[in-house]
Amino acid sequence: MSDKLIIFDTTLRDGEQSPGASMTREEKLRIARQLERLHVDVIEAGFAASSPGDFEAVRSIADAIREVTVCSLARANDRDIARAAEALKGAARARIHTFIATSALHMEKKLRMTPDQVHEQARQSIRFARNLCDDIEFSPEDGYRSDVDFLCRVLETVIAEGATTVNIPDTVGYAVPELYGEFIRNLRERVPNSDKAVWSVHCHNDLGMAVANSLAGVKLGGARQIECTINGLGERAGNCSLEEVVMAVRTRRDYFKLDLGIDATQIVPASRMVSQTTGFLVQPNKAVVGANAFAHASGIHQDGVLKARDTYEIMRAEDVGWATNKIVLGKLSGRNAFKQRLQELGVSMESEAEVNAAFARFKDLADRKSDIYDEDIIALVGDESVTPEQEHYRLVSLAQHSETGERPQATVTFVADGVEHNAASDGNGPVDASLKAIESKVRSGAEMMLYSVNAITSGSTESQGEVTVRLQLGGRVVNGVGADPDIVVASAKAYLSALNKLHGNADRVAAQG
Ligand code: KIV
Ligand code: ZN
Repeated sequence: MSDKLIIFDTTLRDGEQSPGASMTREEKLRIARQLERLHVDVIEAGFAASSPGDFEAVRSIADAIREVTVCSLARANDRDIARAAEALKGAARARIHTFIATSALHMEKKLRMTPDQVHEQARQSIRFARNLCDDIEFSPEDGYRSDVDFLCRVLETVIAEGATTVNIPDTVGYAVPELYGEFIRNLRERVPNSDKAVWSVHCHNDLGMAVANSLAGVKLGGARQIECTINGLGERAGNCSLEEVVMAVRTRRDYFKLDLGIDATQIVPASRMVSQTTGFLVQPNKAVVGANAFAHASGIHQDGVLKARDTYEIMRAEDVGWATNKIVLGKLSGRNAFKQRLQELGVSMESEAEVNAAFARFKDLADRKSDIYDEDIIALVGDESVTPEQEHYRLVSLAQHSETGERPQATVTFVADGVEHNAASDGNGPVDASLKAIESKVRSGAEMMLYSVNAITSGSTESQGEVTVRLQLGGRVVNGVGADPDIVVASAKAYLSALNKLHGNADRVAAQG
C-alpha cells in the first residue's frame, strides 16, 4: 500500500513573512504556477484577511491553479475564516488553515486569554470553518512549547469538530530532531481520535535543524505532511527547505519508504524564481540548489566522478533540474523558436503582447551577447511581474564614465509615463552615479535596503549580471530585478523596476499579524 507524504508549500505565506521578501500579486501568481509544475500537494497562497493585497493574491491563485489544493491562513476567528473562504471561492480544491497559540507564554502574554478561552475559540473556529470548506487544517501556534495535556485536549476537540489536518509548529525553531519526533508520536498516541486527521510538521530553522526536525516528525512521529518553503525562505532563519526535505525522502527512499508526488526536475527552476523574485540569493554551498551542490573541485573527486558517477554523487544534477549550460538560441532565432523555448522552460505568458515584449528584449540581448543560455532566457522574462501596462518607468539608454582617480559620472535617459527624461549625476562609483541620476528626476525618496549583483551563468565574465534592488517607502518594501551584460545598465533597470512597483498598485502583501 502506498504511503504518501504530503508536501505543503508555504513559500507564499510563511516564506513571504521574511523581512524584505514581500511579493506582488503577479509575482505570487508566477511562483504559484511554478509550484503547480513542481507538483506540490498544497500551496499556502497567503493570509487573506491580513490585507486587501493578500486577499487578492490568494484569490488570483485560487482562480488560476487547477491541479493543486490552494490554502489560505486565517486566525481562529469568524472574520478571518470567512475572508479566507471568500478568497478561495474559485479554487478547484480549497483548504482553510486556521491557527491559535497554545503555549502558556503566548496565551498569557500575547493573546491575554486563559487556556479555556483558547480551547473554546479553537472549537468554535473549526465548527465555523467546516461550514465553509471540507478541508480544514488547524495549527496550535508555538505547539512544541505547549503543555502536552492541554495540547492533547485542544487537538482532540478540533479533530472532533472536523479538522482534517493537525499541524504541530515549532514556531521558534527550538526543537531537536529526536525530541520533536517523540513529541509528535506522543501526541498521536494520546489523542484518542488521532487517526481521523493527517498529522503535519512545521519547523523553523533558528538552530539549523528545521529539515532534520521535520524528517524526525515523519519517521519517528508518523506525520504525513511536511510544511516547507523553496530555498528555506521564511522569517528569521527561515522554514524547512522544500528541496532538501524532498530530496532526502527521495534519495533515501530505502529508509523513509514514502511516496512523493513531486516532479524534482522543477526544483532548480523554482529555487531560481524565488531567489530572483525576492532578492534572497542562494548560498553556493546550499544542498541541492546551491551553485556548487554538484561541482567537484578536487582532482580526486573529479577523477572518481568521471570513472563512475556514483563514487561521489548521490543525486544527479539533471534530476533536480540543473540544465548543463546549453547554448539554446542565437541572434538569428525567430519569435517561434523563442516562444517554443519559453514553453519548454515552463514559462507561461498571459498574452501575445507579453511574448512580444520579451522577444524584443531577447533580440536586444542577442545583439550584444553571442551565446544565449536557458538562464538568460529565464532572466529575460523574470521581470514580467510588471506587465507592459504597469510599466511607468523604462530605461532608454545610459552612458557613464569612470577612470582611476576621477569621480564617476553617469547620464541616464529614461521614460516616465510616456515622457522621456535625461538625468545626470556623479557618484562614488558608476552604479551609484546612475541611480543617483535617476533619483534626481524621480525624487521617490525611497530608502535602499539591498543592492546585490549576481552572475546569471557562472564561470565567465561574459555572463549577464543580475541585479536586485530592494526599496522601502512609507512601510512598503519592493524588489526590483534587472539583467544585462553591463552591470551598470542592469542596476539602472533594477532600480526602475523597483520604482515601477512602488508607483503602481503592485500591492505589498502584508506579513502575518
Ligand atoms: O510558525 C508558525 O507557528 C506558523 C503557524 C501560523 C502555522 O507559521
Ligand atoms: Zn511558521
